[in-house]
Parts: sequence; structure tokens; C-alpha cells
Amino acid sequence: MTTTAQPKLSATNIDEVIKAMTLEEKAQLLVGGGNDSFTGSGAMLGHQERLVAGAAGITVENKRLGIPATVLTDGPAGVHIDATRKNDSQTYYATGFPVGTCLACSWNTELVEAVGKAIGNETLEYGCDVILGPGLNIHRNPLCGRNFEYYSEDPFVTGKIGVAMTRGIQSQGVGVSAKHYAVNSQESNRTIVDERVSQRALREIYLRGFEYVVRESDPWTLMSAYNSVNGKYAQGNKDLLTSVLRDDWGFRGIVMTDWISKREGQGLFTIDEVEAGNDLLTPGFPAQAEDIVNGVKSGKLDIKYVDQNVRRMLEYIVKTPRFRNYQFSNKPDLKAHALITRQSSTEGMVLLKNAGVLPIKNLKTVALFGVNSYDFLAGGLGSGAVNVPYSVDMVTGLKNIGVSTTPLLTEIYQNYVKFANAKLKADKNPMMWFLDTGRPKLDEIDITARCVQHEVKEADAAIITIGRQAGEGLDREIEGEFNLSAAEKAMISRVSDAFRPAGKPVIVIINSGSVIETASWRDRVDAILCAWQPGEEGGNSVADVLTGKANPSGKLTMTWPIAATDHPSTKNFPQEMDNYTFREMIGWGAQIPGRDYTNHEEDIYVGYRYFDTFQKEVAYPFGFGLSYTTFQFSKPAVKAKGKDAVEVSITVKNTGSTSGKEVAQVYVQAPKGRLEKPAQELKAFAKTRELQPGESQTLTMVIPVRDLASFDEAGSQWLTEAGTYTFRIGSSSRDIHATANIKLNEYTEKVSNVLAPKAKLNLLKQ
Ligand code: BGC
Repeated sequence: MTTTAQPKLSATNIDEVIKAMTLEEKAQLLVGGGNDSFTGSGAMLGHQERLVAGAAGITVENKRLGIPATVLTDGPAGVHIDATRKNDSQTYYATGFPVGTCLACSWNTELVEAVGKAIGNETLEYGCDVILGPGLNIHRNPLCGRNFEYYSEDPFVTGKIGVAMTRGIQSQGVGVSAKHYAVNSQESNRTIVDERVSQRALREIYLRGFEYVVRESDPWTLMSAYNSVNGKYAQGNKDLLTSVLRDDWGFRGIVMTDWISKREGQGLFTIDEVEAGNDLLTPGFPAQAEDIVNGVKSGKLDIKYVDQNVRRMLEYIVKTPRFRNYQFSNKPDLKAHALITRQSSTEGMVLLKNAGVLPIKNLKTVALFGVNSYDFLAGGLGSGAVNVPYSVDMVTGLKNIGVSTTPLLTEIYQNYVKFANAKLKADKNPMMWFLDTGRPKLDEIDITARCVQHEVKEADAAIITIGRQAGEGLDREIEGEFNLSAAEKAMISRVSDAFRPAGKPVIVIINSGSVIETASWRDRVDAILCAWQPGEEGGNSVADVLTGKANPSGKLTMTWPIAATDHPSTKNFPQEMDNYTFREMIGWGAQIPGRDYTNHEEDIYVGYRYFDTFQKEVAYPFGFGLSYTTFQFSKPAVKAKGKDAVEVSITVKNTGSTSGKEVAQVYVQAPKGRLEKPAQELKAFAKTRELQPGESQTLTMVIPVRDLASFDEAGSQWLTEAGTYTFRIGSSSRDIHATANIKLNEYTEKVSNVLAPKAKLNLLKQ
């Protein structure tokens, strides 16, 4: 050791501390403290036992210089830590909040911020410094296994909901890690796949949500994705991590890797990562610190990169609760947070169909079908799961409002659920890992027509829950996952055939984090409520909506196609996962032949940008969601606000007889110009407060002209072309109530010319 001075870290002596650090100490600060679940270099999923059992990772303490370890816990739907600890009778359950998709469908940024506050508070009170979320990847395709963690197919919704979540969490004095930067829109081969995508689609679709979050909410940290982007691993991609993130957007926090597994040529890879601006390598292996030391000593790695990352790490550390020596309680107010999750999930639920049967009045007895009525899924699987204290199922939710369920059917299902869950555990199923990280979906049971006939006599209505489970490392299949299984189809038919002729309604609850097929069966039922995976209070929240205690105001943040293959991205979305073992699937090195790249041939035409531009029929359009009341939109006022923005105001009136909330969605149609444009793009939204019957509210939204720009690859610039823009205001992308035009001048903004695809892509054009 050559240093004599031994400063103790403070917010004002970072330079001095860096000077006092040895190379080894610097290297150690840039490499996380490892993983306790899986030993050796194959570690992938975060789980450590030291400071907070079950948190995903830690940064390494340096006592000499007063640098504490900090704790990174998984999210994003709540704090993911172990619920119980060895030799400790206390429990450490965390609140299961609605999954990202459900929250986004509330289109309510204030509500999302409030949820963020509660999540941030639990992060703080459980002794963690950073929560690994929000998830900002784009729903490129409904088959992505992690869509439930993400917000939308649209980058504007993704960005604005992400900003609200980040602000909420960080208001508690802990940090977020916005993830997975970038283009991690599939799980298959996630650690090796090269996402090949045009510069325009990158900037407009895949990076844009991150851009909003960085510019508007100053996230403490960002997580770089496992995959490559245009030929270079995101984690070692300087264009992505420095040119775009820091130079173009002004990011001030640290970048950490996703929980890396060993890759070819690791020495070089570590150096690449450090140089690229990946400040923290997680979960961290000793070999990585050695790589850094050896890299500097051999001249392969310039010490300036090490020092720059060390500085950013120290700037991060001085903000953390651990550094402030915050005395966490390990007792967050779980009761208060349960109330927040109950209310927030009702607002994210989307009423897809209602043939006049909801809200249900005078309901006494329900026949509850589908295993997930009894095994309600609070959230998804993998690192995004939360160890919840309980999950309110439909039986309990209904019981809590005084509605009983038919006894025989309830008993059959409850016994089955108990048996099937026990069997899954006993079988040591290869999905075992998932058993510790959320509840898998149990197979449906075959309910015979005779049994259904028996139920008709006893019940006033039938409720069928269609459940879906998905998670990290696995994408979804079309058959049986996007589409209904044969057993589910039979169940819907039998229930429909028996209940509807008897004048008793059939209601379907979708308990899934992702989109499913509805077009083939929706005519057979009277109402469909997409409840998503709404967190631990699920059954109560659903009951609130069914009875009208809460008026649904959720709107889809993604298109529901008629068939999965209607999305142009489906043709190059991997669907061969069935043939692989679980370990291979979560990406420990196995490759699906021919699947080490994904071409984004649909380019910018993701979601409604495709369906609306190419005028394709859909099951439910982007932005869609029914209410128990009706709303009227006034003529909008659209005018320039200064020289760089447009102000849109509209008055929304509740014209029905129940109080409720409505979302005004502003879609913009650009003039014909040099760049091809989608038919329309969402550029603003606002939600009313709860309006009483007859009450109105004027919503005012300001849209920066910069937000109307497209990415012009030729000039490497954002370009809003001069001309007349049409502002279309409605309550879904296909239900426009009012339009107004405004003339705008050209706007340009140069950015780094980076990330061009190396491969030739056969891009979809109009
Ligand atoms: C996931 C991340 C997660 C990390 C730590 C990774 O496998 O992709 O989302 O935060 O593990 O558990």
C-alpha cells in the first residue's frame, strides 16, 4: 500500500478518496460482492445472504476509506427479498404491488408515483439502497415472457409512467435501476442474442422511454441489458452507455450490468464494460476485479476509465441510506401499503367487454370456475416476483363483500389447488427455481358439462378466471399461452351453454401479466375484465370493480391482436423454447440454433403504430377500456405555447349516472414530409379526477415540439418537419372524439451518430 492519507468518504472529498485508493481497491469498488446462491462464475439470478437476505446484490465495503457496502434488491413490483431468515422468527414479507403492465394501464401518473413512494419506503425500511426497476423495455411482441414487468408497446407511456415511478421511489431517499437498457424485448437466448434494429427504431421506440426517465427523473442507476444491440453487447457498448446515455441525455448516475453469466473472452469483456461506462459489474466475481487490475497493469485499460467509474460509484454511495447510516426498521407499514395496492390495481384493470351485466347488483352466490379463481396470481415469476404475505383469491374477495361461492365447486377446486401445488413441490419440477419466486400456473381441471349444469341451479352468475403465468428467462408460446388451451375453451363453452340460456351472466376475469387471445371466445361471455396480475389484494380489487365500488378506468397500453401472428414481429420472434431445458432457457450458455440474432424488420411499426398505419383489424385497440359511465369530450383548443411547445386543452364531462375517471389520449398525425411517419402517435395523455355525474374537468397538456420529432438517420438528428399537424383526441387509438390542426415550423436537434446496424435489415415500409 502506497497511500499514507486515509480520508473517510464524504460528499465533499470524493477526489481525495480516489487519490487515496489503491488500484485493487478501485477495482473492487467496480465489481459487486458476488452471489451466495450459485457459486462459481455461472451465477446469474441475484440472491445474496449477507446484509439483507435475498437481496439481489451488494457493492463492496471499504472500511479503511469509510465506504459502506450498499444493497441492491430486485423489483419492480415490490421489494424482492427472502420472507424468512435462518434462526429468526420475524418475517420479511414485502407488499406485492400490481405488475408494471397493470400500473401503466391506469394511465394515472399521480397514482403510479404514490405506488412508487410505497415501494421506495419498503426498500428503505428493509435496509436496501436501490430497487432494480422500473422495467422500461417495450412490449414488442405479446410473447415476451417479461412483458408483465414492463409498461407498454408505446415509448411515451413507458417513459411517463417510468418517470412517475422513479420520482415516487427516489422521493424516499433510495434509488431506482431503470432496466434493461436496451432492447431486451425477448427472453429467449437473452444473454447471447443480438438485437438488430435500425437507428430510427432504436431512438424512437426502444431508447425513448429510458430517455424520458433520464431527462425528467434523474435515476440513480440504470441496468444494462444482457443482449447485444447491433453487434455489440449492451454491457460493453460505449455508444449506448456513454454517447447516447451520458452525452446526448445527460445521465448522471451509475450503470450496472444485468446479473451477468460468464461469457467468452471474459478478460476483454470486463475491460470493454469498464471503458463503455458500465460502472458496476454485478453480481460480481473476483475474476472481474482481477481483469481490471491486470488490464490497467498491462496497459490494455486506461486508468482514466477506472477513475471515472470509481468517481461515479462514490457519488452514488454518498446518496445512499447505508452511507447516512439510516436506521431501518424492518417493519414497513404493510397494512397501509395493502390499501395502496388494492386501490391502484382497480385503476389498472381494464374492462374489455360489458353486455350490461356489470356492475353486478344483488349478487348472492357465484359459481367460480378456473383454477386461478382459487390460486389467484398476484405477480409474475423470476426476479420480478415478490414474496408476498398473502394473495387474496376470488373466493375471499367475494366473501369479503358478502358474496358466497357454490360449495361443491369450491371444494373441488380448492382441493385440487392444494394437491397440485404440493405435487409440484414434491416432483422437484425443473421449474423449481420459480417456486421460490412466484407461483406457477397450475393446469386446468376438466369440469364436466354435468357438473356445470349442477352449478347453474345454485348460482346467480358464473365467473371464470383465465390465468397465465410467465417470467424471466422464458418467452411465451402461442398455443396454450397466448391462445387458450383446449381445457379452457371447453370450460368457457360449457359454462356459457349452461348459464346464459338460464339468464345468468358469465363473466371472465383475465389474471395474466400479458395479452391473450380473446376474439374466438368473447361472444360466448357477457363481460370480460382484464385484472392483470394485480398484486396481493387481487381478489378484493376484482370484487371492488365487479360490484361497482370502483368504476374501472384502466385503458390498454398495448394492442390486443386477433392472433399472435398479426404482429409483424412474431415472424422473427423465437418460439422454439419447448425443446429446451430450463437451465438452457434461462441462458446459461445454450444457444437455440439460428437464434443468436433477432431482426427488427417491423422497424418503428410496433404495436398500434403498425395496426393503425396498415389498417389491420384488432381485438382491442391500444388505449381501449370501458367504464360504467359515459363521457363527452368538448372541442379541443390547440395553440402554440412559446415557440417550442403546443398546448392542448379539452373538457371532459361525465354524462352518465355513476362517478368515474376518463383518460384523454392525444394522438398526433404528422404532415407528409421527407420521413415516413406512422398514421398517428400518442404524444400526450391526462386522466381526470373522479368526476361526479354531470361534472366536467378541463385537462391541459403541453407537448414540446421536440416530442413530435422523428429520428432522421441521414442527419443523425431529431426532426420535426414543418407543416400542419393534426391533434386527435380520444379514448383509444381507434375512438377519436375531436381533432384540431396547428401549423408548426421545423425543429431539429443533432445527436450522436451511433448504433447503426451492421447487418442489412429488410425493413417494413408503407
Ligand atoms: C434479471 C434482472 C434482475 C437481476 C437480479 C437478472 O437475471 O434480468 O432483471 O434485476 O437478475 O436478480
